[in-house]
Amino acid sequence: MPRIPLVDVKAQYAPLIEDLRERFEAVLDSSTFIRGPNVQALEEEAAVYLGVKRTIGVANGTDALVLVLDAMGIGPGDEVICPAFTFYATAESIARRGATPVFADIDPATLNLDPEDVAARITQRTRAIMPVHLFGRPAAVAELTGLGPPLIEDAAQAFGSPGIAQSIASTFSFYPTKNLFCLGDGGLVAANDEELAERIRMLAFHGSRDKTDFQFVGYNSRLDEFQAAFVRLFLTHLDEWTRGRREAAARYVELGLGDLVQVPEDETGHVYHLFICRSPERDRIREALTEADIASAVYYTTPLHLQPAMRFLGWKPGSLPETERAAQENFSVPLWPGIPAEVQERVVAAVRSAVGVGVG
Ligand SMILES: Cc1ncc(COP(=O)(O)O)c(C=O)c1O
Repeated sequence: MPRIPLVDVKAQYAPLIEDLRERFEAVLDSSTFIRGPNVQALEEEAAVYLGVKRTIGVANGTDALVLVLDAMGIGPGDEVICPAFTFYATAESIARRGATPVFADIDPATLNLDPEDVAARITQRTRAIMPVHLFGRPAAVAELTGLGPPLIEDAAQAFGSPGIAQSIASTFSFYPTKNLFCLGDGGLVAANDEELAERIRMLAFHGSRDKTDFQFVGYNSRLDEFQAAFVRLFLTHLDEWTRGRREAAARYVELGLGDLVQVPEDETGHVYHLFICRSPERDRIREALTEADIASAVYYTTPLHLQPAMRFLGWKPGSLPETERAAQENFSVPLWPGIPAEVQERVVAAVRSAVGVGVG
């Protein structure tokens, strides 16, 4: 039996290869590779899709975060509250600006920031809260908004999830395994403040509008024309892909995976970038999956507050109990739009064999 990957990105774009070739050739013919019509069109189409005022294509999702913080004037002496159970770039962007990441614990039911714990960590220095819509599940945006400081939504894993990106600024990554992706590196900022959007656009272009007059110390972070052309095509398939992801998630539940391990509770906005389960027996389950030739993965096993580069902040093990427990228990099982039912049956059978329920 063939090995089952965790994510089959090629299965997603394989039916579109001819279309991708045409788009590649059109850009090649145009010989406009930077700041071309596809980037401009994507920025308009993405703004409509997300229901935001402006979007700005940038080089990747990490730059998107750094640029927003920079445009908001966040730097040394400022604090930004964020989760420690997320990809490193979330806190890295804050530290990169010389500001202080202040980690808050997560709600174990959603794996997203716990608004109560965030509230307890707000100080006079708090300039922003940076929730992450982790694994495709929207964070508690309404509760967090009510706390006062502006939200910068790290939406790298949740493009198009309903209800997100309504804050002052949100960021996206088009890294190839994301739910909306490109064929290399790419990212996007969504902004609901025209002035902030303009500053972000300039900061990503050497602090300039025209590369002649330089207003700010920025740098170079642009989405290129090829990637924009590909993302425009993929965006037209995103609704169908999200439906496919949600159907696959529902099928895992129908197949009884939730009787064996803790599965994510569904909510309408969840776009299932990944399907994350929890179990104290995770290592045994993963061994059984590997034996059955099924890929699985674990995420953020050393949460950000305990990462070597963040040691200067002085966090100790035990300071974020729910984060640390999630780090020890989480694992993902294969999911992508169009994953065959038989594949999901094989996954559930392998998990069942490890936890010993329903055997014989
Ligand atoms: C939550 C989160 N934030 C930020 C990023 C950074 O995005 P990129 O890899 O495009 O720089 C990623 C993805 O890698 C992510 O998952």
